[in-house]
This record gives sequence, C-alpha cells and structure tokens, in this order.
Amino acid sequence: MTLNGSDPRQMHANYTIRFDRTNTEMDLRPIPNSSKYVATGALHHGQNYGSLVIIDPARAPEEDADPMACLKRLTPEVGFPESQVGAQVWGFPYPISEDLFLAVADHSIGVNEGMEGKKYLRGDYGIYLLDRFGNRELIYRDPEIGCATVLPLIARPKPTVAPELVKPGEIPSQEYISFPDRDWTKRPQAEVTIANVYQSLKPWPENTKIKSLRIVQIYAMSVPSGWLKYTGRQEGTTLHTATISPVRGVIGTVPVEEDGSAHFMVPAQMEVFFQALDENGNAVQSMRSGTYFQPGDNVSCVGCHEPKGQITRSSSVLPTAFTRPASIPQPDVEGSRPANFVELVQPILDKHCVECHAKPESNTFSLAREPYVPYHKTKFYQSYYNLVFKDWAFYDYVHPTRTIPGQFGSLKSPLLPLLDNGHYGVKLTPEERHRIALWLDMLSPFYSVYEPELQDKQLEGEPVYPTLE
Ligand code: HEC
Ligand code: HEC
Repeated sequence: MTLNGSDPRQMHANYTIRFDRTNTEMDLRPIPNSSKYVATGALHHGQNYGSLVIIDPARAPEEDADPMACLKRLTPEVGFPESQVGAQVWGFPYPISEDLFLAVADHSIGVNEGMEGKKYLRGDYGIYLLDRFGNRELIYRDPEIGCATVLPLIARPKPTVAPELVKPGEIPSQEYISFPDRDWTKRPQAEVTIANVYQSLKPWPENTKIKSLRIVQIYAMSVPSGWLKYTGRQEGTTLHTATISPVRGVIGTVPVEEDGSAHFMVPAQMEVFFQALDENGNAVQSMRSGTYFQPGDNVSCVGCHEPKGQITRSSSVLPTAFTRPASIPQPDVEGSRPANFVELVQPILDKHCVECHAKPESNTFSLAREPYVPYHKTKFYQSYYNLVFKDWAFYDYVHPTRTIPGQFGSLKSPLLPLLDNGHYGVKLTPEERHRIALWLDMLSPFYSVYEPELQDKQLEGEPVYPTLE
C-alpha cells in the first residue's frame, strides 16, 4: 500500500495458500537499489520472529503455482513457525544490499516456545550480520536483555517521498454515523473504475453476462471472537474452522457496461468487497477478501481478477464506463444493510410457506419463526435451522481460498431452483425471489449484530444495528 494507506494489495496475489508457505510476512523492508524486499516469515499466534525471506514481487505466483515462487529463504536452517513447525529464531531483518543483512536471532529458542498461550519467554536475541550464502556473525548480545530489533545509526539517503494521492481538502471525517442515520453518501468517498470484469483468473460459466456489481460492506467485529453466538451456520460445526462469519451489508449496486467496464463511487474508510451479478441479479463471482479506499482516492482495477502485474488488454478505445460520470450505488431492499434472515427471508416464509411448513401433519420440516436452540448458546429460528443446516442455503465455498464463478451463493444453493419449479404452487414476487437470492449471496447469515444482547433483540424482531460501522 502507499504511505497514505491507499491501494492495499497482497504481494502474493490471490489463492496462495498460507499453509504451503509462511503464515505471515512481517517487518518488510525494501532492499536498497533492488525491487525486492526482506521480511520475517513469522507465525499467526506469536511475535514477529521466525525465518527470514526475500520477497520478489515480480515473481508473484499465479493460481495453483508454487506458493513459494516469489520467496527466497535467507535462513533455510530454520523452518517457518507453525506452517513448518519452525521456531521464532530470526527477526527484524535490516537490508544493506541484496546479499547482506542485519537481523536479530535467538538460536536457543525451540519449536512452539513463546507462542500464544505458552509460557512467557524473554528471548535471548542478539544482533547478527548475515549474508545470503550462509555466513552469520554475532555483533552483540546483551546478557541482561534481549535485542528485540536492530537499526543501524548511520547517515543514509532519505527514502523517496511518495506523492500524496488524495485530493487536497478531502480530510477524512471522524464523524460517527450511527443508526438510524446511516447514509454513507455523507461519508468521504473514493472513485473507482474497472476496465473489464470478464478479465479473471477463473473462467466464467458459459454465456455469463455480468450486468452489475454489488458493493458489500463488512462490519467490524465489536466482540472478541470465540465466545459470541455466531452470526450463522458456523456455530458448532466442524465444517468450518473459522470462528466467525462477519456481518455484511449491501452498500448498493452499480451498472456494468456491455464491454465489462464500470465506474462508480464507493464510501471511503470502510471495509468493502465486490460481487459480479448476472442479468437476474445473482452473484456469479464474489471477493472473499475485503479492501478499502481512502477519501478522494481514484482507483482503477483491471478485472475480477487478472493475474498480478497484468495490465488491461490493449484497446484503441476507452472502456465505455470510463467516458461517463461515476454511478452512485443504488441501495438494496430493507434488511440488506446489514443482511439478516429475520428481515430478508422470514417474512416471505410467513407469507408463503408456513401454511404447510409449520404443521406436524404436513410431513415436512418447519419454516416457522420459532426460536430453536440447536447447540449450547446458539439460538435461531426453526426455519433457519432447517434451511441452513439441511443444506438448502449457501455458506461453504468448498475451496479454502477461492470462489469458483457460478458455484456461489444463490446460483449454488438448491433452494431457488426448487421454488422456481413450481413447488406446491408457491409463487414468489420478483422482489421476494431477490430477497432470498441476496440472503444466499451474503452467505446465509441469521444475525446482523454481534453482541448477544442485540442478537436476542433481533431474534424478537426488534430493529437493531451493529455497534461499529
Ligand atoms: C466481482 C469480481 C471482482 C472485482 C470487480 C474486484 N475483485 Fe478483488 N477479488 C476478487 C476475487 C475473486 C478475489 C480472490 C479471492 C479473495 O481473496 O477474495 C479478490 C481478491 C482481492 C484482494 C485480496 C487479494 C489480493 O490480491 O490482494 C484485494 C485486495 C482485492 N481483491 C481488491 C480489489 C480492488 C481494489 C478492486 C477494484 C476496485 C477489486 N478487488 C475488484 C474479485 C473481484
Ligand atoms: C402447499 C404446501 C406447501 C407450501 C405452501 C410450501 N411447501 Fe415446501 N414442502 C411441502 C411438502 C409436503 C414437502 C415435503 C415433501 C416434498 O419434498 O415434496 C415440502 C418440502 C420442502 C423442502 C424440502 C424438499 C426436500 O426434498 O427435502 C423445502 C426446502 C421446502 N419445502 C421449501 C419451501 C419454501 C421455502 C416454501 C415457501 C416459499 C414452501 N416450501 C412452501 C409443502 C409445501
């Protein structure tokens, strides 16, 4: 990302599975006179220590390629902590050249020592000079206190100052917009262009026509993970090891032109992601990561996504959407921001389904608004439990990092095909159908708040809103 926090991107690109490489890369520093970086290959449940790597962003791997493609190990004698059962030996590399580095190390630290939940260790870190060829020279070790970091005190060229990309006068607003005034158009915004959504690593299903993009907001978790009643299916299942499916809501949709281009405004300083919708408004492809924009940013993305480092295919004409003013996202139905089952789906079930689906004699499961406790501390409606836990909904991407176009949300779930095929004469209005599709595209959440007290209110049908935007 740039110094002002714009344009956050991973160097490893999409789809590299962290279990096959380092869990995290910490304390990155650019190597002087080089396009490479040095970093600590560190762990997820500990400090910024592990095994040192050199990152070459130009060699970022593409899909299914070797996840180590852009990494060179500087300290191969130490495995990566957690992902390779390595130890928190090396840290804080300071590059002098592509061959020579300063760093701190504690060679006595063992596997799993000093990790989250383990006993406190002082860390006997000393300062080393090391090179790419395996030579290491201890420069200093204090018998009393570990050297946590290293920084040479020597006059050196001032780093280049990155140009300020944000328009002057666009000062980030710290103003808090809370329920019921949650009009994001009052927030600072950014302008986004997309050259061609069809440019994608994964093939689109045949004859896919993308008509619009949905901009989805992620709500910051306002409770520690681990103890809350989760927002949906994740609770109590072994299928999902993720502790939480964050609350999400639709900012709005914007049109995509025939040539796949789009041009629109987005709220700044808010975690968002994009979904590409077909002519029926169903999500064909969805981001799984979030991104964000700074006030006044003007960001252009190529597609959905292209391989890292690729530019848009050359064309003598500008993408259509680039030649017109930015679209303003059109908000979606009530109950979509943030998305929850209670407002989006249950009213449809009350109207169309419970006449059969709440009677013991009808020989089918209940779709009623009845509180149900499938697991300790988890409360849903009976309807939610039956639809979601009996696999009529969508919550599982199947793949650990990818979304497969066309194999997601409303297009993957068997629920809409069942209802579209004239299930016992049920006829949904287009808006009702859209509400169910939207709920499926949002990963079928039940709650749209995190705190148990708020969730209890939501279960009762009271209006509630997340405590953090
Ligand atoms: C609906 C199609 C689509 C559009 C449009 C789209 N993305 Fe993504 N994005 C994806 C997919 C698919 C992934 C890969 C899965 C994941 O990591 O979420 C992804 C991943 C990402 C990631 C995480 C991985 C990485 O490369 O760092 C970031 C950041 C990101 N997108 C930013 C953006 C930005 C910025 C834009 C343009 C303003 C954009 N995306 C537009 C589909 C899209
Ligand atoms: C006129 C009665 C009736 C109405 C109205 C009705 N259903 Fe059903 N539904 C049934 C019966 C009976 C079954 C069980 C037998 C079967 O699967 O055909 C069933 C089965 C189902 C199943 C499970 C199918 C399976 O194979 O396990 C789902 C899902 C379902 N209904 C959803 C709905 C939804 C959602 C609505 C409202 C939008 C709805 N139904 C409205 C009578 C009805």
